[in-house]
Amino acid sequence: MPKLNENYLNLKESYLFSEIAHRVNDYTAAHPDQKVIRLGIGDVTLPIGSEIIAQLHEGVDALSKAETFKGYGPEQGYDFLCEAIVDYYARNGVTIAANEVFVSDGAKSDTGNITDLFDRDNVILIPDPVYPVYVDTNIMNGRNIVYIDANAENGFLPMPDANVHADIIYICSPNNPTGAAYNREQLTEWVNYALANDAIILFDAAYECFVTDETLPRSIFAIENAKKCAIEFCSLSKTAGFTGTRCGYTIVPKDLKFTASTGTEMSLNAMWNRRQTTKFNGVSYIVQKGAAAAFSVSGMAQCKENLKYYQENAKIIAEGLARKGIRYFGGINSPYIWFECPNHMDSWDFFDYLLANAQVVGTPGAGFGKNGQNFFRLTSFGSRENTLEAMERINKLL
Ligand SMILES: Cc1ncc(COP(=O)(O)O)c(C=O)c1O
Repeated sequence: MPKLNENYLNLKESYLFSEIAHRVNDYTAAHPDQKVIRLGIGDVTLPIGSEIIAQLHEGVDALSKAETFKGYGPEQGYDFLCEAIVDYYARNGVTIAANEVFVSDGAKSDTGNITDLFDRDNVILIPDPVYPVYVDTNIMNGRNIVYIDANAENGFLPMPDANVHADIIYICSPNNPTGAAYNREQLTEWVNYALANDAIILFDAAYECFVTDETLPRSIFAIENAKKCAIEFCSLSKTAGFTGTRCGYTIVPKDLKFTASTGTEMSLNAMWNRRQTTKFNGVSYIVQKGAAAAFSVSGMAQCKENLKYYQENAKIIAEGLARKGIRYFGGINSPYIWFECPNHMDSWDFFDYLLANAQVVGTPGAGFGKNGQNFFRLTSFGSRENTLEAMERINKLL
C-alpha cells in the first residue's frame, strides 16, 4: 500500500466558494424572480484589449506555417516576453534582468510550487486573513505556520515583530482579500527584518496594476536590498484579463543566495530554474505573444482602460460604504473593498442577510482566516450597472 501524504488530512475543507454557490443556488431556486447581483467574484469580466488579441491571433497564425511553427519553447519563457517584462519594470523604475524572470501559467501555480525549494523545517510567517493558497500549500508539505494578525487596528498591514523569528514570509500587496497596500517605509521595514533574520520574503504582486498612488511601491524590488531577500510573483490575470488565458511570472534575483548545511552556496535562481526545467514545460507560444503585447506601452495603455473601469467601480462601492459610515479598507489601489459587517455581525450571517434583503452576493471574510470573521469583501469586477444597483440596494438596506 502506498504511504500517502497525510498532511492532506490537516487541510481545512476549502468550502468558501462552493458554500457561497450553494447558498445562492438555494436562494435563487426559492426566489426565481429576484435579480441577484454577484460582487463576490475575483474574476475579471471585460474582454481582452485588441492589441493583445491581435498578437494572440499572430501566435496562432505562426503555428500554421512550417517556417514559423513553434514546438517546445524555453521553460523559462521566450526571450521576447522576458525582455518585455524587464522593460515594463524599467518603466516603473525597477531594474531586473531577463534571466531573473520565469514565465509561468500564473501566480497561483508559482506561489504554490515555490514551496519545493524549501525544507520542511522552516518557520513560515503568514498574515491572517490571507489568500488561502499560501496556507494550504505549506500545510500540504507539513510545515509549521506562524500567523501574524492583520486587523483593523493595524490597517490590515501587519508589521514585523523583532521578537518573532521567521524563515519565510508571505506578503501580498495590494492585498487580497483586504485591499490594503504597504507603503515604501513599511516594505523597507519588512526587507530589513528579512535581512536581519536571514529570511526570504515571498512577495505576491498580483494586484500591482491597481496601484494608482505613485508613492506606493508596485514591486518589492523597488526597495533597497530586496534582491538579497525576496522573490516576486506576478500575474497577467487581472492586469490584462488573462484569468482564463493563463500567464504569470516569477522574479528570482541572481543575488538571492544562501549557504547550505554542507557549506555550499545555493542560488535560489538556479534552484527555481532547475525546478521549472524539471517539472514544467513552459507556457504556449500563443499566450506569450499576447502577454508580450500586454507589456508594450500601447498594450498596457489598453489594459489600463479596463483597469480604470474596475477602479471606478471600486470607488462607487467605497463611497457608498463611506456614506453609510461603514469602516472599510482597500478600494483605492485595489479591486477589493473589505468592510466591517454592520453591528459586529458574523460574516456568514451578514452574507445571508445581504442576500435575503438586497440580493447582493459578496464574500464572507471568515473564508480568509479568523481575522476576517466580522468582515466582508466586495469586488469591483462586476459591470457598472450592477455595481451601481448593488450599492443602491445596500444604501437602502443598511
Ligand atoms: C493574491 C493572489 N495571488 C495570486 C492569484 C492567482 O493568480 P493567477 O490567476 O495568475 O494564478 C490570485 C488570484 O485570485 C490572488 O488573489
